[in-house]
Amino acid sequence: MPTLNDIRSTFLNYFDKQGHRVLPSSPLVPRNDPTLMFANSGMVQFKNLFTGIETRDYTRATTAQKCVRAGGKHNDLDNVGYTARHHTFFEMMGNFSFGDYFKEEAIFFAWEMITKELCIPKEKLVVTVYHDDDEAVALWKKIGGFTDDKIIRIATDDNFWMMGPTGPCGPSSEIFYDHGDHIWGGPPGSPDEDGDRFVEIWNLVFMQYEQFEDGTRKPLAAQSIDTGMGIERVAALLQGTNDNYATDLVRNLIEASAHATSTNPDGPDKTHHRVIADHLRSTSFLIADGVLPSKDGRGYVLRRIMRRAMRHAHLIGASDPLMHRLVPALVQQMGAAYPELVQAQSMIEETLYQEETRFRTTLDRGLKLLEDEVLDLSAGGALPGATAFKLYDTFGFPLDLTQDALREKGMSVDTDGFDTAMAAQKAKARAAWAGSGEMADDTIWFDVLDTHGATDFLGYDTEHAEGQIVSVVCDGAQVQTADYGTSVQVVLNQTPFYAESGGQIGDHGQIVTETGTIIITDTRKSADLFIHIGKVSTGSIANGQAAELKVNETRRSSICANHSATHLLHEALRRTLGDHVAQRGSLNADDRLRFDFSHGLAVTAAQLQQVQTEVNSFIRQNSSVETRIMTPDDARALGAQALFGEKYGDEVRVVSMGRLPGSGKGAGKNTYSLELCGGTHVRKTGDIGGFVLLSDGASSAGVRRIEALTGAGADNHIQSQLKSIADAANTLKVKPSEVALRAQQLLDERRVLQNEVANLRRELAMSGGADTDAVEPVMVGGKALLAQVLQGVTGRDLPALVDAHKAKIGSGAVLLIADADGKAAVAAGVTDDLTANLSAVDIVKIAVAELGGKGGGGRADMAQGGAKSVELAEAAIAAVKTLMEG
Ligand code: ALA
Repeated sequence: MPTLNDIRSTFLNYFDKQGHRVLPSSPLVPRNDPTLMFANSGMVQFKNLFTGIETRDYTRATTAQKCVRAGGKHNDLDNVGYTARHHTFFEMMGNFSFGDYFKEEAIFFAWEMITKELCIPKEKLVVTVYHDDDEAVALWKKIGGFTDDKIIRIATDDNFWMMGPTGPCGPSSEIFYDHGDHIWGGPPGSPDEDGDRFVEIWNLVFMQYEQFEDGTRKPLAAQSIDTGMGIERVAALLQGTNDNYATDLVRNLIEASAHATSTNPDGPDKTHHRVIADHLRSTSFLIADGVLPSKDGRGYVLRRIMRRAMRHAHLIGASDPLMHRLVPALVQQMGAAYPELVQAQSMIEETLYQEETRFRTTLDRGLKLLEDEVLDLSAGGALPGATAFKLYDTFGFPLDLTQDALREKGMSVDTDGFDTAMAAQKAKARAAWAGSGEMADDTIWFDVLDTHGATDFLGYDTEHAEGQIVSVVCDGAQVQTADYGTSVQVVLNQTPFYAESGGQIGDHGQIVTETGTIIITDTRKSADLFIHIGKVSTGSIANGQAAELKVNETRRSSICANHSATHLLHEALRRTLGDHVAQRGSLNADDRLRFDFSHGLAVTAAQLQQVQTEVNSFIRQNSSVETRIMTPDDARALGAQALFGEKYGDEVRVVSMGRLPGSGKGAGKNTYSLELCGGTHVRKTGDIGGFVLLSDGASSAGVRRIEALTGAGADNHIQSQLKSIADAANTLKVKPSEVALRAQQLLDERRVLQNEVANLRRELAMSGGADTDAVEPVMVGGKALLAQVLQGVTGRDLPALVDAHKAKIGSGAVLLIADADGKAAVAAGVTDDLTANLSAVDIVKIAVAELGGKGGGGRADMAQGGAKSVELAEAAIAAVKTLMEG
């Protein structure tokens, strides 16, 4: 009996042999479809190959595609656990031709696969075709030997497959398996077709058209093939059952659930185990693909599935969180085919554990409330909407969880009443809405948020995605279209653009629609909306259009590197300077990072060096950067650093990076940096590419500011520093390592030479210098006066010269006027025996005044002053003589 894993391999191997490229499943969150919540068919990743927009180096492909149907148009959540073949998660096997083979080969391959590879008996099969597809009828007769009664023509959409309101489409042919008349149901197209007897196992779509927004349909340039086989259903029939939950893979998960709770898999808890097994698959795969539980969008669908499973775990009587304990069983079953599960195992376990631990704190009280309310209801009654809303709002019960709980009792929820209560709460929030005040159009955003809900952010996992424009704002008003050259603010249902917050700057890039392009130069956030700010650079754009969103990837990588480096820097500072270091602000731009932190003293060079070395050692470690969602309290309990002044909601992202030696598993134990953060980060620390500190300075009292560079910026900085050193070494004619020593030597030599020059000047002046006539004193008013005009001496040299002259004349006055670089330096001295009657200060003041200057000062025995020029030196000497005569 083949296992599900055997069937998957058989399928892929068969098509591999038929020249198909075996490709991995695309992620559950579609990158290339703005309207699709989760991948729900194998062809999603090939959409553009069918329409011919894109070509690759293969024209045949085969995949096992993970699919989730919960939330959005295809929602099987309500039925899971209660029926034989509804799942939130399933695998679709497919073979695809992109303008290569068409109908005949597709039918031939399917036939060979089913009857030869899988050995399914031909007589158990019927097929459907689109009512006017005579070609397909003829091919089924030729290839499968089918008679007319086994080929059913269907005129409805059931046999015309479209991926959505627009896109590639075509007639299809479905292969059904008849489980036998012991099961109720009729063939497709019959009144009893919804029964479980005839089960569709494979859908072959003959892609030949493309449907456009205006409802027109054009033939595709190249006819193509898209097929989808439900592997769980095929496994069921090959394993002799019509119950997908009895097949080996799902059964193993059910048994893991039963084992972990010490209960009987087939006893009264049977439904609970089925729900848990199914939801374990969808939640684990979603988490592995980057979806984390949240209040909106995809994250809320994940939360709904998780909590639904958790209520069933609670009903089994599991006293501890259960879901995370079942992940190893899932990884064992599916990890080989889907390595992303193995990679994300600890992340999945932790996310499930956190969510279940948290939900259990309100689950009991919510269920008690529900039980009390139900007592007043009669069978078939409906729970008041207000109560269901209270369960949602206060106890975290998603609506479908409450519905699921009531279903077992044959009751329902008054959903209109629920909607009314929800609308009333929104109206209250609207009345309280103040906006951030940062953008002129703030009030508009509430309307957009109210109508379209929060923007789903895809940018943690991708820089390129499709979205649908839900609002275009020009000059403060919503508009339908915006033409070339217009400045616009645009909101889409989902985006990979990061909006400025938490110190990380907003993304730049392009938004491209069928009719035009917008160059985005900033992205901001208002409430939960991401607002793309830019200018229409070609054509025009219109509200409602599908758009391709392309973040400037190089810039984003640099921002991520700087942001991740900031986390490492923060931790390195804490470990080097002490626990008092707390973040006070940061900027994570593309060209640099800036980090403000509390610390009273300047950081020493040795400390800076230690910090830089430590950050670089964790960059070289190249360990994975991981993200988890938890409550702020749980995050702090783990030791996560929180941002100063940041308001946190009920749940936070916790980013961890860097591994410390030790064997502890999970966040907090051997993690180097653990921080609450909503920003985008590198995947591995090595992607930071290097770290250089630029400066440390004071930002405000008790707060230091550090600036640093990473990656190419750090490299460029190092290169330019090295070049400067090399240039200096060249000039100094030494090795770069000897520059500092040589520079010190030169400075020392310079100091010695300067002293020598000063001494020589003094000696020269003392010996009369150039003007030997003036060195002899003359008698003025009975006192000796030695007056001299000097060249090549500075003001600093004068006092020593005055003293020397005073000593030489024994008694008298000295006046020296030096030509110091064009200016006049004046000094005067009076020997002590004369200072009672004659002051050097007076001499200087008179001389300076005569030279055209002002002031002068000192003591009676020694004074100094200065003037602009020595031109009037003789007049100055004459004036001093007059003073002494007087
Ligand atoms: N895309 C087709 C389906 O999902 C094969 O049924």
